[in-house]
Amino acid sequence: MFGPPGSGKGTQAKKVAASQGLVHISTGEILRSAIERKTPLGVLAQQYMDKGELVPDEDVQQMLANAVDRYIAEGARGFIFDGFPRTLDQAGFLDQMMKERGSEIQYLIFLDVDHDELVKRLLLRGKTEGRSDDTLEVIENRLEVYKKTTLPVIEHYKKQGKFYPVNGVGTIEEVNARICAILRKS
Ligand code: AP5
Repeated sequence: MFGPPGSGKGTQAKKVAASQGLVHISTGEILRSAIERKTPLGVLAQQYMDKGELVPDEDVQQMLANAVDRYIAEGARGFIFDGFPRTLDQAGFLDQMMKERGSEIQYLIFLDVDHDELVKRLLLRGKTEGRSDDTLEVIENRLEVYKKTTLPVIEHYKKQGKFYPVNGVGTIEEVNARICAILRKS
């Protein structure tokens, strides 16, 4: 599940995971849990996340591979990744990691949402849930980092014929129906 901060990756990934019997892996959620538990990774990650910067590739990659292997050992039959890959290096890593485990990425579902709507959603969540990176200054930096560093990942999967854009504006159910239509068709 791919898209800018606030596009609904987490919301939609949870729904698709539940309906398709997949394991949902959110790198943001794993990192927030590490921060809460004050693990060495959490202490490192907080310095980046507070500013809306990306946590270094090698740390997130190791964390992701550990999570995937743990779920495979528990019998997982497929995954939906949310918030990963976010750099071209991470995309290369993910392809290789899946290959080594006899699998591959099938879809990059891109949730397309305009800038004003993203800022509106995230400011609202900042007020209601108090997520520490949902302040205007940090939101704008997250969107900037996304544009500069994460957006090029789209090209990587377009070249592989795996890019599926979805209009991410509408109710949660409407967006979900658009995603399900893609999964049914292909
Ligand atoms: P992460 O947790 O991935 O945050 P994000 O990408 O900024 O995305 P959000 O969780 O804010 O939004 P979302 O697209 O998941 O939308 P959501 O469903 O929550 O990452 C946080 C940080 O961790 C990063 O900045 C980075 O520092 C670090 N990190 C994570 N992964 C990394 C990686 N791979 N490499 C390096 N660093 C990494 O929805 C947002 C809000 O909108 C919610 O309130 C929701 O209820 C609402 N909403 C959802 N859908 C709709 C809709 N259709 N209409 C109206 N509101 C909606």
